[in-house]
Amino acid sequence: MVAAGITRIFPDLTDDLLLNLFHQGAQVQWTSRSLDWNTPFQLSDRQRLALARLLTPVYFGEQSAMAGASSMLPSVMAAGETTAQLYLASFIMDEARHFEALTRLYRSLGHDPLRIRDMPELLRYYHRLREGDRIDWVWGILISDIIGKHFYRALGPKQAAPDPFFGPLTVRILRDESRHLAFAEHYLKRNVPGLTPERRRVMVDMRDELMRLLESMTRRVRDDALAFHVEIDDFLGEVGGEIDGVAHRVGLLERRQGPPKTGSGPIVSDRSGPPPPQTPATDEGAVMARCFGCLLSLICSRRLARA
Ligand SMILES: [Fe+2]
Ligand SMILES: [Fe+2]
Repeated sequence: MVAAGITRIFPDLTDDLLLNLFHQGAQVQWTSRSLDWNTPFQLSDRQRLALARLLTPVYFGEQSAMAGASSMLPSVMAAGETTAQLYLASFIMDEARHFEALTRLYRSLGHDPLRIRDMPELLRYYHRLREGDRIDWVWGILISDIIGKHFYRALGPKQAAPDPFFGPLTVRILRDESRHLAFAEHYLKRNVPGLTPERRRVMVDMRDELMRLLESMTRRVRDDALAFHVEIDDFLGEVGGEIDGVAHRVGLLERRQGPPKTGSGPIVSDRSGPPPPQTPATDEGAVMARCFGCLLSLICSRRLARA
């Protein structure tokens, strides 16, 4: 018996940038076992503690990106975006290895990440990434990837004498993140022009809210950044500047609505207004979660808005 509504089996598989990114990602696989864990750190005790604290939001960001992409995949499939779903499968693997490698790194550093109560903005930040539809999610991931990129560069390649273990690890992660940024910008360039001005305004508001939360989080680790001779204000300035540049390039700051530029048709969101107010689970005592992952799974159990 043929299922009702199914008229064809083979999906469209256009030879586009997303398919190329999928192939690139699949061909450059690595895991924490590719690294030489016998290489001794050259970080001072203070820098090891500082790195553990500074890494906290990025570390949880890796796990959140992995979980977010997996819950996003079915809606991309439902929209018939075949190359995007293949790309997302490789993205999930990328974020899984970043999360696993950083977990192992924490063990080597001998320090834990900051606790939620020490950086409560973490929950608000990752809860905000879960609001909206696929386009909002990609926009949030792009912002998070830009933050991650500047973080890894500041503590890795931009250091006068990068640590012989952490430096090469950041280079590997940065290579993966460059594919993520290419995906997000391409996806948004294809879809933002078809959005209403009000929808774009919501996305600009999202950027502002995420940046406010980032400022608040980084204020808590200002002294830790100084242990690596990094000024938090310079870091924030570079992050904000790059996000603005991408926002311009994808047409988010255009006043007039235009037609989609390339590729298949735009995603039309059924949500034209701002997202409904949500109450993040910020009260540690109210949520019986054993770790950030448990908490994240509670946040992710909310379905994304249908687009
Ligand atoms: Fe990552
Ligand atoms: Fe990423």
